[in-house]
Amino acid sequence: MNHLYQRHFLRLFDFNALELKSIIKLAQKLKKNKQNNTEIQLLQKKNIVLIFEKESTRTRCAFELAAFDQGAHVTYLGPGSTHIGQKESISDTAKILGRLYDGIQYRGHDHKKIEILADNSNVPVWNGLTKKFHPTQLLADLLTIQEIYPNKKFHEITCAYVGDASNNIGNSLLEAALLFNFTLRIIAPKKYWPEKKILKLHQENQKNYPSNIIYTENIQKGVKNVDFIYTDVWMSMGESQDNWEKRIQLLRPYQVNTSMLDMTNNPDIKVLHCLPALHDQHTEIGRNLSKKYGFDNGIEITHDVFQKNEDIIFQQAENRLHTIKAILISSLLQKISL
Ligand code: CP
Ligand code: NVA
Repeated sequence: MNHLYQRHFLRLFDFNALELKSIIKLAQKLKKNKQNNTEIQLLQKKNIVLIFEKESTRTRCAFELAAFDQGAHVTYLGPGSTHIGQKESISDTAKILGRLYDGIQYRGHDHKKIEILADNSNVPVWNGLTKKFHPTQLLADLLTIQEIYPNKKFHEITCAYVGDASNNIGNSLLEAALLFNFTLRIIAPKKYWPEKKILKLHQENQKNYPSNIIYTENIQKGVKNVDFIYTDVWMSMGESQDNWEKRIQLLRPYQVNTSMLDMTNNPDIKVLHCLPALHDQHTEIGRNLSKKYGFDNGIEITHDVFQKNEDIIFQQAENRLHTIKAILISSLLQKISL
């Protein structure tokens, strides 16, 4: 019996560590099968709908390709292309889509919206990113960490998260550290630490999940001897562009650059980034910010550090496909036989 069958996945805490590990294990198998050209289509005759109220490259492609590889059909509903919130409530939308489809992916702003969607849907709802959480990203990150250190247990891993720790990646990483018991150092100005409710959740779960999580503004202390430094953009989708000035003022010292890497004291330090990244002048936002605020080598991460770590960063991105495929199979099939 597959315990994940028909379950919603809105945040990592919806599943326990064993269940999440089973998804990662399945993703490893699926990745191997795809590479060996031995993939079996388990999702034929399944239909899924993807609602995107924000832009996406990786998440959309990963859901679509995962479905195509597995024989399922996909409907993509892009930003502004549905009645949601204008002429139709999210709960009515859930009821109609649940009658038509076997599963619903939602990427949007307010996390409350996906909770309403899930409460009113009789089919699984997967969170493809909300302001608060990005759980499918973390599945890919955990698979990547495991691939890099196949002989290490998660509790032997130390990861620093540097930058805007109050965003969906910061919050999800915190849940991952609690569930998987790895050491997490959250390094950011206090203003950008995870929101109070999430911190409280950490305190409440400290006894059940004895992972080592610290919050600090001190970069030198925070990054010392870590295995990974993880960062994300300083301004997430949907936030007001007017915030840039304040963000840059506070976050500038937290840029991931060679001097931060030197502070780790780890010659084998590895950098993770969920992407997209502002690491060069080939994006409109990157160019504008560089010009306005005088950055000459990337914003949240410098180009040299990005390039040196890009194999790992793009491995993370590729793993979105395999892990999303695993979550689709896990929630849509009562019995999984590969
Ligand atoms: N990392 C991630 O979710 O990328 P997209 O915004 O391209 O989906
Ligand atoms: N924090 C980022 C993650 C992008 C994948 C955002 O929400 O825009």
